[in-house]
Amino acid sequence: MPPEPILQISGLTKRFGNLIAVNDVSVRLEPGTIVGLIGPNGAGKTTLFNAITGLHTPDAGRVLFKGTDITGMLSHKICKLGMSRTFQVVKAFSILTVEDTVRVGAYNRHGEKEIQAKVDEVIAFCELEDFRRQKCGDLSLALLRRVELARAVATEPELLLLDEAGAGLTGTELDGLMAILTRLNREKGVTLCVVEHVMKMVMGLCQRIVVLDAGEVIAEGTPAEISDNPKVIEAYLGKRAVR
Ligand SMILES: Nc1ncnc2c1ncn2[C@@H]1O[C@H](COP(=O)(O)OP(=O)(O)OP(=O)(O)O)[C@@H](O)[C@H]1O
Ligand SMILES: [Mg+2]
Repeated sequence: MPPEPILQISGLTKRFGNLIAVNDVSVRLEPGTIVGLIGPNGAGKTTLFNAITGLHTPDAGRVLFKGTDITGMLSHKICKLGMSRTFQVVKAFSILTVEDTVRVGAYNRHGEKEIQAKVDEVIAFCELEDFRRQKCGDLSLALLRRVELARAVATEPELLLLDEAGAGLTGTELDGLMAILTRLNREKGVTLCVVEHVMKMVMGLCQRIVVLDAGEVIAEGTPAEISDNPKVIEAYLGKRAVR
């Protein structure tokens, strides 16, 4: 028997007027895995994350997290249950320092007494020691993405959804991010779902990949299976690319 899924999405649909951005999507994530969610621009990846994490109310379907129905639940309640996320367009308060930004996440589970220890631990884990007193508004994109990751890690998630965490990063910055995500998965047992266009990250990190196109799941499999799948090649490159 396969293990109980940490996240089970069934028949999820989200419309914007006449546009069906996410159309009857069903996906299950097994605990402890790293799963990639890929697809061309406008495929519905961010909308799916938004519908899972309470930013959009789905028009149909159900989301079960650790067996609990969280469909339409408010984001902060979902976070308390153990699911966190980062955003495609980084959301950080530019006047806050790195340390204070991480502290915001840590308040999810900790009171004043233990909070500094948690903040210190997460800053060390995410290798942000050298920047802890800097204001977020003064950071490079790579560091800002790292701080957003740290804030999410500080909430102590069991499942973390990352929306294009690798976008705009150099090769070296990407290696650093991938190393942190690998440790997060292996050492802390966090299940990861990564929306990503950067193939080095998808192929290097994920055991399984789900492909969305025009709001629908068109393929699911290992990185090797996905890169050979004619439907996936067609979705990215057009019909003529498929021999
Ligand atoms: N708030 C919204 N109102 C109206 N349409 C929206 C809204 N958000 C997304 N859409 C539309 O829904 C579709 C899916 O968008 P979404 O942002 O989920 O795609 P994506 O796969 O994340 O794309 P990208 O890779 O470019 O980030 C697109 O056609 C987009 O224009
Ligand atoms: Mg997106």
